[in-house]
Amino acid sequence: MSKIDVLVVGGGGREHALVWKIAQSPLVEKVYCAPGNGGTANEEKTINVPIGVDKFEELSRFALEKKIALVVIGPDNPLADGIVDHMEAKGLKVFGPDQAGAKLESSKSHAKNILVELGIPTARFAVFQDKTSALNFASENEWARVVKEDGLALGKGVVVCDTIKEVEDALSKMFGGNAKDSSATKNIVVVEDRLQGEELSLFLLSDGKNTLTLAACQDHKRRFDGDTGPNTGGMGAYSPVPLYEKYKEVIEKQVVEPIQRALKNGSLKYKGVLFIGILMQDDIPYVLEFNARFGDPETQALMPRLKSDIVPALLASAEGTLDQVKLDWDTRFSCCVVACADKYPESSSKGETIEIGELPEDTYIFHAGTAIANDVVTTNGGRVLAVVSLHEAPEKAQQNAYLALKNVSFKGIDYRKDIAWRVATKCHSR
Ligand code: GLY
Repeated sequence: MSKIDVLVVGGGGREHALVWKIAQSPLVEKVYCAPGNGGTANEEKTINVPIGVDKFEELSRFALEKKIALVVIGPDNPLADGIVDHMEAKGLKVFGPDQAGAKLESSKSHAKNILVELGIPTARFAVFQDKTSALNFASENEWARVVKEDGLALGKGVVVCDTIKEVEDALSKMFGGNAKDSSATKNIVVVEDRLQGEELSLFLLSDGKNTLTLAACQDHKRRFDGDTGPNTGGMGAYSPVPLYEKYKEVIEKQVVEPIQRALKNGSLKYKGVLFIGILMQDDIPYVLEFNARFGDPETQALMPRLKSDIVPALLASAEGTLDQVKLDWDTRFSCCVVACADKYPESSSKGETIEIGELPEDTYIFHAGTAIANDVVTTNGGRVLAVVSLHEAPEKAQQNAYLALKNVSFKGIDYRKDIAWRVATKCHSR
């Protein structure tokens, strides 16, 4: 069989991890990454292509010209805007959901309705199109302390509140004005129960009819140690997750099987990767959210654990043959720590030279906000890169990731010192 070329769309850490894994496939001749970053530029077999993720026409033209056999879409925005529909209409084979499928992420009210329809546990909720009704509802129902903006919001669309005042502030922001102004109906919000418990992320592949469970991960969304500070895209992640191992059967029965049944009977149409955010409360797996893409930085934690070639699985998802695919996972723990700009998430870093020294065994660097010019790699974003270490012992994986970070430098580098604290208790100084 002749080798294929693959195009990965995106330029973050998730895409670097995907490119890294895809490039290892013996089935692959070349990987193009649009637009890529300073890490993908230096990856084996890989060429960065300076086309933005929102340039559907240019991306399709490039893929057709290069006879790309598989396009892999990384980020949420192009999926929500219909990049898969666009490319498939041109005859390209694409890994990812179409626009209707991506609504599981791009509309939180749609996702809640699907969860209810499929009988999957989810927090009780109500949907509102004006601030006054939403605020009245939250005032009358003490449990209603989570406010979610309906669309994509770069991880800032969910506000978990302690008080009704915080609910009011969140609603004011989302509706863009005075919460008492019921004429402000430009948005939709979901107000839901504030559940209490530990969270995990589960990744499934779907081909439209079959699912294949990948692995579970736990990420750290808060900016500072001790899970404090503002929410971010993710400051680190680890996998596997003991909580998932404990509740695997319950999650399979109450979350995965209803999804499988709905795919088979046609009541759910979805292909690509489904990222399921689950919170365990009273032994019940409540689904908090769906994402229609791989997580970032979860993908960086997962790819080094995947022993099998990923390309047959991505192709099978696009072709409807996932029932013929099996994946083998490394049982070792991976610990992924994100190095960011010191002022992230308020601001980012640009143009600072990145130096990377010696790395411990089984340690990988995935770039996110980086750029390359004249062979010099510089910062170009808030989350700059991630260090991922694998080890049988979670505390060793954690220790190696932090040891590696001592050999990574750029002006203003910062990172959390307690990633994976649930499985490895040490705190690491710089
Ligand atoms: N790390 C969370 C996300 O990718 O949405």
